[in-house]
Parts: sequence; C-alpha cells; structure tokens
Amino acid sequence: MSTGSRDGEQDYRGFVGPSEKYDLISATQFNLLTFLDLREDHYLLDIGCGSLRAGKLLIPFLLPGRYHGIEPEQWLIDEGIRNELGEDILGVKKPVFNHDNNFTLSAFDRKFDYILAHSIFSHASERQISRCLSEARKVMRPTSLFIATFAKGDDNYSGDEWVYPGFVMYTEDHMRALFEKEGLASSILSWPHPEFQVWIVAALRNHTEETETSAYSRLEKFGSEVKEHHESLLRNREALFGLYFQSDK
Ligand SMILES: C[S@@+](CC[C@H](N)C(=O)[O-])C[C@H]1O[C@@H](n2cnc3c(N)ncnc32)[C@H](O)[C@@H]1O
Repeated sequence: MSTGSRDGEQDYRGFVGPSEKYDLISATQFNLLTFLDLREDHYLLDIGCGSLRAGKLLIPFLLPGRYHGIEPEQWLIDEGIRNELGEDILGVKKPVFNHDNNFTLSAFDRKFDYILAHSIFSHASERQISRCLSEARKVMRPTSLFIATFAKGDDNYSGDEWVYPGFVMYTEDHMRALFEKEGLASSILSWPHPEFQVWIVAALRNHTEETETSAYSRLEKFGSEVKEHHESLLRNREALFGLYFQSDK
C-alpha cells in the first residue's frame, strides 16, 4: 500500500497536515481523550501515529509502556521523537511502536482502553476501514473506546486505495454502518476540529459483561455531554472575550 511519498522539502509536521495547525490538532486530540476519561494508567493505541502530533502530549501524560503507536512511515516517528519529545523519553516513558501497514492492531498482543484513529479514515478505502475495525474489535474490552475522525461528504469514496495527501469522504450513515458491520456501536461527537473532520466514538456492541460502566452504555451519554460541554465552552469563551474587550476600553 502506498502511504504517500516523502519529498525532500516536506517536513515531519507538514506530512501529516497543515504545519500551522500542528499544535491545535495535538491539543484537540488530547483534550477530547481526557474529556472522555483517559487516565495515566490506561493503555492507548494511536493508529497512524505519524510524527506524534497526538503522541507529543499523550506519551508524557501516560505511565511508562502505555502509549502504543502503529505507523508504516518509521521516519515520521523518528523525527517526532527527535524534534518534539527528545530521545530520553524513550527510556522514561517506554512508548511501543510497530510499522505494520495493514492495520494489524493485534500485533501488539494486548488489549487497549482507548484506540485513536485521527485523520486515518479520511484517507482510507472502505476495505481498509473495515480491516482496521475488525482488528480493533480483537483488541477492545467492553469498556474500551474507539475514537476516530473522518471527512464527511454527500457521497462515499468507492476506490480501493489509500489516498494521500488528498482526502476521501463518507456520509455519516455510511461510516456508522461500517462500524456496525464490525460489531461496534457508534456515536457522532460534536467536538470541535481545527480542520473539517468529524469525530466518531465507538464501543463493542456484543459482549457478555455489559454493565453500567461499559463503554457501550456510556456512548449516548458521551454524545450529549460532549455537545453540552462544547456549547458551554463557546458560551464561556464569548463571555471571557466580552470581559477582555470591556477591560480594553
Ligand atoms: C493525516 S496523517 C495523521 C497522523 C496522526 N494520526 C495525526 O493526527 O497526527 C495519516 C497517517 O496515517 C499513516 N498511515 C498510512 N497508511 C497506514 C496504515 N496502513 N496503518 C497505519 N497508518 C497508516 C500515514 O503514514 C500518516 O502518518
């Protein structure tokens, strides 16, 4: 599978998206994960972790050995470590990496509490998304959350190839149906995104240990809480800006 080429001019930040929004897109991912109850002792898998745009905040936050990244382009991880975190982080936080290019999430031989796939389904074919979700299912617990973004459109990409650096689109209904087909219940979140991507969060649908605390039973709640939280943040921000401009006069 082609994952896009590294041209001489392209840097590790620019390869994964607009360089000027690298910090914002790091923060957006980290903020959403902690809002969805991520704690330092959770095991997290960052699918297509790229140059550690999310990893630069997640690796220091999580306890040693908890952050796992899968990324076919090893140079991106190397550059991310060198420029964003420093080599010492490898000894201190012991992040685990794999360079598989077929979404073999079971390669880590462990289950995860959180699986993140940011800006992956916005480049992937339906076959690749299904492969990724069927692998994700194997490494999820009843309490695990799968958090992804996709580019929302009026039609569905019907090609079979990874598209990069271009984007592919899917309708909300189609994306949710792909999750459903792999046994994952999903909910669209109105969490902000610095570009145009839509957030979707999912949990295992069929499991025997369904309890009050299972992620499945928390999904709908997350959907409305996130919306409420975002609206209240916007209201507060307007109020704060109001104060700021008043004190400026
Ligand atoms: C738009 S970037 C997103 C990177 C990262 N998730 C972030 O938000 O910074 C897409 C990433 O997916 C990686 N990728 C391509 N094919 C992949 C595959 N089969 N499995 C995992 N990652 C893949 C690319 O190399 C690239 O780093």
